[in-house]
Amino acid sequence: MRTNVDAPVPTSTSPLAEGWSLHELDSVDSTNRRAAPLPAWSAVTARTQTAGRGRHDRRWVSDTGGLWLSAVLPTTGEFERWSLLPLAAGLGVCQALTSFGLAGHRLRWPNDIMIGPTKLAGLLVERFRPATAVVGIGINYDNRPEADDPGLTGTVARLTDLLHVAPARHVLRDAVLTALRHAHRLLAADRAADLVEQLSPYWRRLPVRVTLRPDGAQLDGHFAGVDPAGRLLLKTDHGSPRSLAPHEVELLRELSSTDTDRP
Ligand code: BTN
Repeated sequence: MRTNVDAPVPTSTSPLAEGWSLHELDSVDSTNRRAAPLPAWSAVTARTQTAGRGRHDRRWVSDTGGLWLSAVLPTTGEFERWSLLPLAAGLGVCQALTSFGLAGHRLRWPNDIMIGPTKLAGLLVERFRPATAVVGIGINYDNRPEADDPGLTGTVARLTDLLHVAPARHVLRDAVLTALRHAHRLLAADRAADLVEQLSPYWRRLPVRVTLRPDGAQLDGHFAGVDPAGRLLLKTDHGSPRSLAPHEVELLRELSSTDTDRP
């Protein structure tokens, strides 16, 4: 019998606290793709993803044991306001993790969640149709992505290694969905300044190299947070501080001391 991974049968669909409608799937290509046609306040999880999508068209290894979650949020009203959604969603995930006792996690602009130099979670916000956005969240829970891609060895963190008592995966999922509701409320109420303030403990002023769009020019400096409009603030090594809109930034890479040491 042929198995069609493109048309998985939902293992369950249920209402959740805070008004989310949850679709729990088994193996899918990408939960973001599955969430794309669904109405606002739908959420999709999957046990595994065969074509998990990362930012910059990268592959996101989505083995069993991770939390692979996509949430559909309404984005009605001015377009500008929702440009902060990736930051707001990253804040929501950070706050959910903090609520379980995790400490020391931080954001790498715009919304990677890091522990030291290792990545615990990634977010990919996509707009498949007007007036909604799909917020895709991948959290390494007790999976081993480096077993699938040895190139990831030493670069990933797992939640169960970081907490004495980790919440069950579905408890984590519900906390993230609740935090997303709150983050969405901040933006819907036009409270960008509050968002920027709440983000501030999660940033670190590390040396970074920013690759600019469209020409690939590179700027070195120190990350200095975001301005009230969510633009990246860069204290450049040679020259004046810069503020950069997300569409101007191709890539931000944190520099290790080896990268910055000059002969
Ligand atoms: C990144 O850091 O590059 C973003 C990774 C986002 C991964 C999540 S997992 C759930 C959702 N479905 C996807 O295909 N991608 C996101």
